[in-house]
Amino acid sequence: MTLQSQQTDDQMADTSNSEALRVLFSQAEIAQRLDKLAREIAALEPDQLLVVAILKGSFVFAADLIRALHHSGLDPQVDFLTLSSYRQSKVSSGTVEILRDLDLAVDGRTVLIVDDVLDSGRTLGFAKDLLSARGAARVMTCVLIDKKAPRAVDVTADFRAFDCGAEFVVGYGMDVAHCYRELPFVAVLEDET
Ligand code: IMP
Ligand code: MG
Repeated sequence: MTLQSQQTDDQMADTSNSEALRVLFSQAEIAQRLDKLAREIAALEPDQLLVVAILKGSFVFAADLIRALHHSGLDPQVDFLTLSSYRQSKVSSGTVEILRDLDLAVDGRTVLIVDDVLDSGRTLGFAKDLLSARGAARVMTCVLIDKKAPRAVDVTADFRAFDCGAEFVVGYGMDVAHCYRELPFVAVLEDET
């Protein structure tokens, strides 16, 4: 699944013989949307904000979002929580595990959980419950992509950059079997066979 050609945001890119990437959200669209989101978050004037990025999928989104937050006048601290429910598959396994925990304590703090995709809701629901149980004063959530798919766990994101359907997306930090995280845009992997 290596890219065989350089691509621009608007092109279909060859991947393997049977797969192609269709760009869903371009680099420019993402940047514009993140600026707006950051302004909305900053408007709440969160006190001593702690951004908790859910790894691995949110690392690119979180990196851009914290710089957009800085641009909007905030100075968040950042920590990372590695959760897994997907493994090698495109289908959620149903259980969420902590693979690497936070370094910082969250009790009494305003926390913004940042994740790449809200799909079944299991991951975000788990992270919200975990940080609330640890005594966070306020837990807010922000996702890059809110999938309009049936939720297994009833959770909504306080902030979301984009909506999409049930299709599996890659790029901008998101992977399938560890590939495509490096793409600067969000794309749908299409099977051409
Ligand atoms: P949920 O727990 O089913 O809501 O799934 C959320 C997690 O699954 C996200 O943190 C993603 O890492 C992963 N995920 C769900 N859908 C996709 C997708 O389309 N592409 C890449 N990762 C996804
Ligand atoms: Mg994830």
